[in-house]
Amino acid sequence: MCGIFGYVGPRKDAVEMAVEGLKSLEYRGYDSWGVAWKESQFLNVHKETGKISGIDGKTLAGECSLVIGHTRWATHGGVTVANAHPHLNADRTIAVVHNGIIENYQELRDELKAKGHVFLSQTDSEIIPHLIDEELKTTGDFAHAVRRTCLRFQGRYAIVAVHTKSESIVAARTGSPLIIGKEKGGGYFIASDTPAFLKHTRTVQYLDDGEMAVTDGRSILISDIATGEERLKREIEIRWTADEAQKGDFAHFMIKEIMDQKESVARAVNQSDEEILTLADAIRNAKGTFLSGCGTAGMACRAGEYFLSIVAHKHVNFAPASEFKLFHGFLQPESLLIVVSQSGETADVLEAMQVAKSAGAKVLSIVNVQGSSIDRASDYTLRINAGPERAVASTKALTGQLAVLLLIAYALDGGVAQGKKVLLETAAQINDMLNPRYVVFLKEIAERIKDSKDLYIIGKGWNYPMAMESAIKIQEVSNIHAEGFAAGELKHGPIGLVEEGTPCIVLAGSDEVLPDIISNAVQLKARGGFIIGVSPVNNEAFDVWIKVPDAGTAQPIVNIIPVQVLAYELALARGKDPDMPRNLAKSVTVK
Ligand code: AGP
Repeated sequence: MCGIFGYVGPRKDAVEMAVEGLKSLEYRGYDSWGVAWKESQFLNVHKETGKISGIDGKTLAGECSLVIGHTRWATHGGVTVANAHPHLNADRTIAVVHNGIIENYQELRDELKAKGHVFLSQTDSEIIPHLIDEELKTTGDFAHAVRRTCLRFQGRYAIVAVHTKSESIVAARTGSPLIIGKEKGGGYFIASDTPAFLKHTRTVQYLDDGEMAVTDGRSILISDIATGEERLKREIEIRWTADEAQKGDFAHFMIKEIMDQKESVARAVNQSDEEILTLADAIRNAKGTFLSGCGTAGMACRAGEYFLSIVAHKHVNFAPASEFKLFHGFLQPESLLIVVSQSGETADVLEAMQVAKSAGAKVLSIVNVQGSSIDRASDYTLRINAGPERAVASTKALTGQLAVLLLIAYALDGGVAQGKKVLLETAAQINDMLNPRYVVFLKEIAERIKDSKDLYIIGKGWNYPMAMESAIKIQEVSNIHAEGFAAGELKHGPIGLVEEGTPCIVLAGSDEVLPDIISNAVQLKARGGFIIGVSPVNNEAFDVWIKVPDAGTAQPIVNIIPVQVLAYELALARGKDPDMPRNLAKSVTVK
């Protein structure tokens, strides 16, 4: 989704930093970008559609110390320069960047139009500088005008605003993230995600919903938007470094992050026994445990259902976060909601948490991003320690989530040590598996199936959610039509889709359901399917065998990894950029 960057302070290369900062937010997904900076008493604005990658900030502006910038993922209005941010008021004295959606924008726009305001874009965001302009007519104070403007919004937003007559940046949020970075020698950054300024500082303060910040680069004042009361905020040192957030020698973040799994699964297991046991107790004592997440994180939850059922004999319910509120009738104050999210900012997940909290239930989150909204709003949090995940296609976060859920299942069954042993052995197996020859082999398979119109994946038990996850990975980066099914369901309908040569991936383990899934693979083969087996053991039903380690309860973790590589190679073979998938954003902060 959209990215925000702001800086005010002693540095003179603010525009260059903004361009670099926005490039670091590219992974969030965007279709246009823009910056506004203050030079003398004027606001200069530069906006473009398309990518910011090739832009050198030095060529845009000379010396300046105050800037705001934005990458836009279109919601209201198409991908045009006029719709790109920053947006301005009529006399170009106020510039604003905005993430989120102002739900009552039509009503506010009509009101402004009646007062003579003219709009140049189709966005909801453009009303903001115009509203601030109106407020400034009754209060001379810029920050106060922004506060009053925010009070009129319905919906989720994060805004950063500047004014030619003010030396400060004003930022405010409700529902969309904003993080403040403080540089040692003076100067403040404001961004929607920390990679935007990690190069300059790791000291941050998190704005919470309903809060605003005003900074002139020397000091910062954080206050409650509704009451104006000052809020004192802790400064936190974030653990991630700027280097971790780079792709290094890899061609794309996606393949870098797939390869990171050689170490990241072991890092996910690095949890304190005491904490895991406390959380296992919370699940044991809860009257109803629910699992929820979106997309890939939702698939981790579905696999978690199997882990908890098979390893810990514990019944839990899964609902995609966007559907969770419809089950509110089953929540009680003693219920527990476990949410899973890489970014910790997904709007649907935040809504599910709100629903659970309204019923008095407790929320446990499994997240990757420290200090994210979900991390901070949870009663308990477990971090998967995957390090920054920047590719839109989630890979190492998924295997970290699966590892943590499996560990919880072992803890519930009284075997934390056993769980850690299994997972650390799996981490070592992944390290061996992801060798260069293996990747070349997967690339060859991708070349062979790259022109297929459809691709189906089947799995049984905990491999069923991995079949659906495989489909997500292939859909998002290669745009091939892919679907994942429960193997046994084939004969009830999906088998009708299989034609001569249709690639069918079969995810298997060496467990008791192996004969069932092989029988389903044979049924596909009999209808002309080209069978790609992902399994620790070969079988004559497979036209191609992708060997994976025998990982026991951790089988879904090792089975999904070759499919991630295959999806990546399919994207390349079809001429797609796997880091910039069509229509998608990394962090989905709208509903
Ligand atoms: C995964 O490849 C997708 N990009 C997407 O499904 C993602 O997992 C989903 O949007 C949830 O994101 P989160 O983990 O940050 O909450």
